[in-house]
Amino acid sequence: MTDGASQLLAGKRAIITGGANPRGIGAAIAHQFLAQGATIAVLDYAYPDEAEPALAGGRVNLHCDVASMASCEQAVTRATQALGGVDVLVNNAGIVAATRIWDLAEDEFRRMLDVNLTGTYNVTRAALPRLLESDRRPAIVNLGSTAALRGGGLLGGSHYAASKGGVISFTKALARELGPRGVRANCVAPGIIETDMTLGKFGENWEQELKQGIPLQRFGSPAEVAQAILFLASDLSSYSTGIVVDVNGGFHIH
Ligand SMILES: NC(=O)c1ccc[n+]([C@@H]2O[C@H](COP(=O)([O-])OP(=O)(O)OC[C@H]3O[C@@H](n4cnc5c(N)ncnc54)[C@H](O)[C@@H]3O)[C@@H](O)[C@H]2O)c1
Repeated sequence: MTDGASQLLAGKRAIITGGANPRGIGAAIAHQFLAQGATIAVLDYAYPDEAEPALAGGRVNLHCDVASMASCEQAVTRATQALGGVDVLVNNAGIVAATRIWDLAEDEFRRMLDVNLTGTYNVTRAALPRLLESDRRPAIVNLGSTAALRGGGLLGGSHYAASKGGVISFTKALARELGPRGVRANCVAPGIIETDMTLGKFGENWEQELKQGIPLQRFGSPAEVAQAILFLASDLSSYSTGIVVDVNGGFHIH
């Protein structure tokens, strides 16, 4: 914990989606945001649906299925009540699947877009009135993926790549539309990060081969993605909007 004067998110009230998995990127974001002075609402469909959740230690956990607008509106209302407002939104909740196009059924394609892309829209739309009334330099940070930039091909199929490509385009358009109204919008594009999405999924030979092809010769950690998100959520990035920050060890340089 740093002292209040040097904390990057002192006084900021943040919503982070997809933070229930303790080994995930969302948990690392929550940890760093708290350490940097934010109060946070963590939204995840893995949390129970409680009518009056309480803020404890600067954090409240709220049930939310990002694929449902009604669920997002309810969770954002509860988050606003608990936090007193919203200055930062991190759309991190997401799913992945490697299904190749010849096996990809319509319902699986739609579900991927419902969670990753429509989910990002749903939470953003629900939180937007709160972000627009914030006088604390509001910011949105969305989770893209290297898969969107290099054409999937690893653990993400075409539906995953398309959903994350949509998130990146959505973010760029938000930056244009919301910049004049004082809200920044940026994206982080992680490469291969050691979470449940990736751990043990490649098999030893493929994993070694992949690491040798990465200039930094290793996979990334959730904390390293959270650091980039911290930069984009904080006033350190006050003149950046519509950008995509790669966190991929050089795996995809473009
Ligand atoms: N791990 C990687 O290598 C990697 C790479 C690129 C991008 N990403 C992106 O980073 C984000 C976090 O991934 P992670 O690796 O921490 O995954 P994870 O599976 O550990 O965490 C995802 C979280 O999202 C939640 N979630 C899933 N569907 C939801 C829904 N409908 N509503 C609410 N919550 C929901 C899960 O409960 C979980 O807590 C995702 O958007 C993912 O696509 C991850």
